Amino acid sequence: MELRSKILDRSARVGVVGLGYVGLPLAVEFARAGFTVTGIDLDQSKVARVNGGDSYIGDIPSSVLGPLVASGKLSATTDFSVIASLDTVNICVPTPLRKTKDPDMSFIVAASEQIAKHIHAGMLVIFESTTYPGTTDEVVLPMLTQSGLHVGRDFFLCFSPERVDPGNRKYQTANIPKVVGGVTAECTEHGRMLYAQAIETVVPVSSTQVAEMVKLLENTFRMINIGLVNEIAMMCDRIGVNV
Ligand SMILES: NC(=O)c1ccc[n+]([C@@H]2O[C@H](COP(=O)([O-])OP(=O)(O)OC[C@H]3O[C@@H](n4cnc5c(N)ncnc54)[C@H](O)[C@@H]3O)[C@@H](O)[C@H]2O)c1
Repeated sequence: MELRSKILDRSARVGVVGLGYVGLPLAVEFARAGFTVTGIDLDQSKVARVNGGDSYIGDIPSSVLGPLVASGKLSATTDFSVIASLDTVNICVPTPLRKTKDPDMSFIVAASEQIAKHIHAGMLVIFESTTYPGTTDEVVLPMLTQSGLHVGRDFFLCFSPERVDPGNRKYQTANIPKVVGGVTAECTEHGRMLYAQAIETVVPVSSTQVAEMVKLLENTFRMINIGLVNEIAMMCDRIGVNV
């Protein structure tokens, strides 16, 4: 069956690489939408806790995770060879800054290497980690095309920034608008279709770089506003005004 049909009837086998603050809530939303979801993480203890229905992420109560695991909709593994049997994979690995303040790309490279080993025709790969504009096309894409598969025809690649705000009760994974941009229009359309099954609002954009730039703008906007209000708070404190 074509990937498009498998997404629309939710028979697609969905994978999430990296089961942290971003990946576990995403895996849960896909499972709640009816997909069979496999989480992949290097951390054996997280994998064991997911498989035991025992959540370690504040926004995901074990009472939500447990039944999804018990019903077989969600499971976790440390074995990347499972990717060969998946139809879609979302990459949610960390991108910390190095001491020199440049991003540590080693997690992205390691995860992409594993996906490149097991990628197959008809697969959708969506990269979600926070990163600089250009990463999807310049770093991830060349690793995946080493397989000989052609992007936009044999497989689909998108960037979709994760915008979750852990602890926010009003906006969580399912109701934060999801921006998605693909390497080609076909890639964007497949990414849009997948998210539309599980997330209320999907905002397709014209390229991976646009989606990456959205995230850079949002984080910069947030940082400047937090900095601004902290400065104002200090001034207020000096003159005895409740900020
Ligand atoms: N936490 C947030 O509020 C937030 C919000 C928006 C965006 N982001 C971004 O999302 C990405 C993920 O962040 P997070 O907070 O979920 O991180 P996290 O540290 O909570 O989780 C990352 C998970 O990835 C696993 N991992 C690392 N390397 C791996 C590999 N090669 N293969 C498989 N699993 C691997 C780790 O064991 C860990 O469980 C980062 O780029 C981050 O900047 C985070």
